[in-house]
Amino acid sequence: MSPEAGAPLVEVRGVTRRYGPVLANDRIDLELRAGEVHALLGENGAGKSTLSKIIYGFVRPDAGELRVGGRPAALRSPRDARALGIGMVFQDFMLIPALSVLENIALFLTDLPPVPSRRAVAGRIRAQGERFGLAVDPDAPVRQLSVGDRQKVEILKLLLAQARVLIFDEPTKVLAPHEVDALFRVFAALKAEGYSILFITHKLREVLRCADRITVLRRGRVAGGFGPSEAREEDLVAMMFGAREAEAQARTEEAPRAPGAPVLELRSACCAAAGSETALRDLDLCIGQGEIVGVAGVSGSGQKELGDLILGLRPLASGGKRFLGADASRWSIARMREQGCAFIPEDPLAMAAVAGMSVRENLALGTGRRYHKGARLDWRALEAGMAASFQALAFPVPPLDPPIAALSGGNLQRVVIAREMAHAPRLIVALYPTRGLDVPSAASVRALLLRARDGGAGVLLISEDLEELAGMADRLLVLFAGAIRGEFRRGAWQAEAVGRLMTGSMAAARG
Ligand SMILES: Nc1ncnc2c1ncn2[C@@H]1O[C@H](COP(=O)(O)OP(=O)(O)OP(=O)(O)O)[C@@H](O)[C@H]1O
Ligand SMILES: [Mg+2]
Repeated sequence: MSPEAGAPLVEVRGVTRRYGPVLANDRIDLELRAGEVHALLGENGAGKSTLSKIIYGFVRPDAGELRVGGRPAALRSPRDARALGIGMVFQDFMLIPALSVLENIALFLTDLPPVPSRRAVAGRIRAQGERFGLAVDPDAPVRQLSVGDRQKVEILKLLLAQARVLIFDEPTKVLAPHEVDALFRVFAALKAEGYSILFITHKLREVLRCADRITVLRRGRVAGGFGPSEAREEDLVAMMFGAREAEAQARTEEAPRAPGAPVLELRSACCAAAGSETALRDLDLCIGQGEIVGVAGVSGSGQKELGDLILGLRPLASGGKRFLGADASRWSIARMREQGCAFIPEDPLAMAAVAGMSVRENLALGTGRRYHKGARLDWRALEAGMAASFQALAFPVPPLDPPIAALSGGNLQRVVIAREMAHAPRLIVALYPTRGLDVPSAASVRALLLRARDGGAGVLLISEDLEELAGMADRLLVLFAGAIRGEFRRGAWQAEAVGRLMTGSMAAARG
């Protein structure tokens, strides 16, 4: 393909895709042009991932046509799409941690003739890295790379395979704020050289910052579109969810309140680390009843390890843990959960769901004997209990029979949250609970966490979103390299100071 500025590289015409009763894509028209970032917006389950997988040849449409470089293209597999210059960066990266950057990229290229030599690949990784702001060491093992660097490797892979159209499905979901800025600089450099980018996100500000064209999907259909600099945030929200939701984004600005008796206490807690994990060092942490303690940090600072330690997934090397006044240092996960600890993990599909099981079975996971009648699980009672929880969150109840892996990313997150919040937890450990959720769903999750706090629960809210933390946390801790580097009362922190602590560029602070 020779990219003439503004010419459509990919045209989607009348594309339709059904999954059983669900019309995931309904007669979609869309164009991806050279030198443009085209943002694709829409609520959870709107059909964004389905459409991107169709363009990448991963899912075949039931009807409609794709044209690539002006010619009809029948993509039978991603291999066909790659041969036509279309590449995709997935929500979950497809890299092999034990191999080096170079090896991962070379493996990907062997798919496509002619195979360049190892040295040539290393040279090109360096050259493309410099040119597009994607510098990574070709010899570094992927397992040692940060999430942001792994994403760079994914992009390099596509560039070296001669892709001209790059599809990004929620690339910023896993990135820290400074990594998002870096990604947008990469977008700008790619655009300037005539690449075409399809960018999926739930964050409207990101769209307004970098998109040249915006298409909004709603229930599988194109609800509308905007050209460069026509869109305002309110218009986008109205188009995504209908005008009704546009005003429903409340924030709380109240004074901090005194927390009640401790729900969870960590005393000089240390935790060893294997492989790429972060060791936790000497953590002192107390979460009281009716208190939200926020934890800010860039990814890999020990957030996952902290969540696992509290839940009992990983043992204390030294120090103590108390839950509701009792020594819980050696409690099993089952016991923590029985006593009222809810857990919303970072990666729900890997940590809190069994992919091959139905949505219904997944809702039963970890509910212990709560819904048992004698020796048997009372499925009706379970469904009723869970339906109430979905309702409290204003989430629609998804179909219960399909395997949970068939849900969209956001709908899967909703299922895990509804299950975890169903039984009036005493402690809620929430890692990035609104990640991947559309605007109203994220607002309901925040509202529910605030209600749980007001009802006396203790909440540990781990997030990279400083605005979210500022709106919710009664106290804020900053985690860096497995240690608490700062502690601030509500309203007594500045984003800049927190940001510098998060990146380790400032000594420990209190406020
Ligand atoms: N493999 C599948 N089997 C059954 N249904 C599916 C499958 N893939 C997607 N769907 C359904 O198609 C609809 C659109 O899903 P899709 O993943 O495209 O949404 P999305 O816009 O990417 O949502 P999110 O923002 O939550 O990621 C959803 O109702 C989803 O459950
Ligand atoms: Mg999706």
